[in-house]
Amino acid sequence: MQRVNKLLSLIVLVLMGTELTQVLPANPEESWQVYSSAQDSEGRCVCTVVAPQQTMCSRDARTKQLRQLLEKVQNMTQSIQVLDQRTQRDLQYVVKMEDQLRGLETKFRQVEENHKQNIAKQYKAIKAKMAELRPLIPVLEEYKADARLVQQFKEEVQNLTSSLSLLQQEMGAYDYDDLHSRVVSLEERLRACMQKLGLCGEKTTTLSDLATHRLNMCHKYTDPSMRVDAGLSNITAKKVMACGKLTGISDAITIKTSGSRFGSWMTDPLAPEGNTRVWYMDGYHNNRFVREYKSMADFMTSDNFTSHRLPHPWSGTGQVVYNGSIYFNKFQSNMIIKFDFKTSTISKSQRLDNSGYSNTYHYAWGGHSDIDLMVDEGGLWAIYATNQNAGNIVISKLHPLTLHIIQSWTTNHPRRSAGESFMICGTLYVTNGYSGGTKVYYAYHTNSSTYEYIDIVLQNKYSHISMLDYNPRDRALYAWNNGHQVLYNVTLFHVIRSEQL
Ligand SMILES: *[C@@H]1O[C@H](CO)[C@@H](O)[C@H](O)[C@H]1NC(C)=O
Ligand SMILES: *[C@@H]1O[C@H](CO)[C@@H](O)[C@H](O)[C@H]1NC(C)=O
Ligand SMILES: *[C@@H]1O[C@H](CO)[C@@H](O)[C@H](O)[C@H]1NC(C)=O
Ligand SMILES: *[C@@H]1O[C@H](CO)[C@@H](O)[C@H](O)[C@H]1NC(C)=O
Ligand SMILES: *[C@@H]1O[C@H](CO)[C@@H](O)[C@H](O)[C@H]1NC(C)=O
Ligand SMILES: *[C@@H]1O[C@H](CO)[C@@H](O)[C@H](O)[C@H]1NC(C)=O
Ligand SMILES: *[C@@H]1O[C@H](CO)[C@@H](O)[C@H](O)[C@H]1NC(C)=O
Repeated sequence: MQRVNKLLSLIVLVLMGTELTQVLPANPEESWQVYSSAQDSEGRCVCTVVAPQQTMCSRDARTKQLRQLLEKVQNMTQSIQVLDQRTQRDLQYVVKMEDQLRGLETKFRQVEENHKQNIAKQYKAIKAKMAELRPLIPVLEEYKADARLVQQFKEEVQNLTSSLSLLQQEMGAYDYDDLHSRVVSLEERLRACMQKLGLCGEKTTTLSDLATHRLNMCHKYTDPSMRVDAGLSNITAKKVMACGKLTGISDAITIKTSGSRFGSWMTDPLAPEGNTRVWYMDGYHNNRFVREYKSMADFMTSDNFTSHRLPHPWSGTGQVVYNGSIYFNKFQSNMIIKFDFKTSTISKSQRLDNSGYSNTYHYAWGGHSDIDLMVDEGGLWAIYATNQNAGNIVISKLHPLTLHIIQSWTTNHPRRSAGESFMICGTLYVTNGYSGGTKVYYAYHTNSSTYEYIDIVLQNKYSHISMLDYNPRDRALYAWNNGHQVLYNVTLFHVIRSEQL
């Protein structure tokens, strides 16, 4: 009973919106204890709790129920934290904008007073101010949406609280006074932490009213300064866009060591959940046998595979398996072929207009790598070069069924001096070479038809990368490095959009 009571107070503590740290006590016989609560360097509340060993609690059905509640509360706490961070950020912005609004107000008054005097000049100044202030509107809208979420949390917390008090009643008055006084003192200590959120809420309402009054327009707004990492709870996950800009690549993990110096391997990004079938193509020419491994685990541990014979040999290592078909460049041609594994037939073949082939515009390592096919979040792409674009990289979005070019972008990057390239979220990333120290140093954004130079290290573990492709399902880079099949994780910089709420 004592243990349960302590657990109760622990939950109440979490209900107040604090972060929870669990520490296993040195002595397993000890029960739940609240150790301390303090603010960390970022101003969040951190509470340390000493928890008893799991097995001690599992005897009691009520404890189990409590543990479930605890988990839910922890989930909510996580979400509230994210909201809080975001609220802090918005607040800074809003405060800045508030000053500007005040300035605008003054301007309006001046115009009224000096009606005839200087009117054109004043009008221009106001117009400029308006333009500056416009982004405030969507921020405030986003903020209001946040407020709705917070409201939802509060309701959930209330529900939890009533469940808890029900439990408490069931347990009777035993030790109640002790529990009560502890809760009261905790509440006091923690209220300070909650005030932050409350304060922000007040400020926005006023400003929001002011702004919607004055400026009756709507804008879409994204905040590139907001970054959300993976692993957040449901509600935040909904806000996270699938796409983002590449900001980092993990160290390579070697999945298997097999095959020759050149080749390609991949999984199908559109395969159903849990299907990790691996497709494997050794060599860059004179081969037409595709290996199929049942799963990534099979691929890692066995040499048990099924072989598929393609109707033509492939060229290079730019093949991609997408929605059950392999797309590949037919050897010594600029023909792209779509071959359906299920029916073992060519479902489409189509020339890639003007594309160089047969080592005309290859990647730095050669190997007839003129046409590199790949898939990102947006679909199927071909990376190649043309005479018309002076041997510089051309990016074309392809229709996956007809293989027709939907749209093309011409870059200023020579195809032959590119190490490899891969596409993430509509941005083409190019590496500076295939051997030695390698980095991703050029990025072309198809969304804006702009490019930039970047500097992201790519570990080149075995000194010869002949294939590098992104898989949007795994959010990983697949590479063939000198007879080793390796994987990298990527870090993307996410942008949060208010309309995703
Ligand atoms: C808490 O979140 C985790 C992971 O998001 C989930 O598996 C679990 O079911 C959630 N718990 C409750 C009680 O909602
Ligand atoms: C809280 O409980 C009420 C009544 O049981 C229910 O209608 C409501 O949806 C619950 N709210 C949340 C956020 O779970
Ligand atoms: C997370 O979302 C899923 C589906 O939307 C839902 O079934 C689940 O209950 C949610 N979990 C939490 C902790 O809200
Ligand atoms: C284009 O995409 C890049 C990377 O995904 C992003 O940083 C940039 O803001 C986008 N530009 C536009 C105009 O959407
Ligand atoms: C290899 O795979 C086949 C079917 O895919 C299966 O019947 C066979 O048992 C597997 N052999 C080994 C050694 O795993
Ligand atoms: C994938 O293939 C199936 C049929 O095999 C088709 O219904 C579906 O639309 C395809 N998906 C995409 C994104 O092409
Ligand atoms: C990628 O991240 C996942 C989840 O953190 C991890 O399991 C996996 O091993 C990582 N893979 C690589 C190649 O680092």
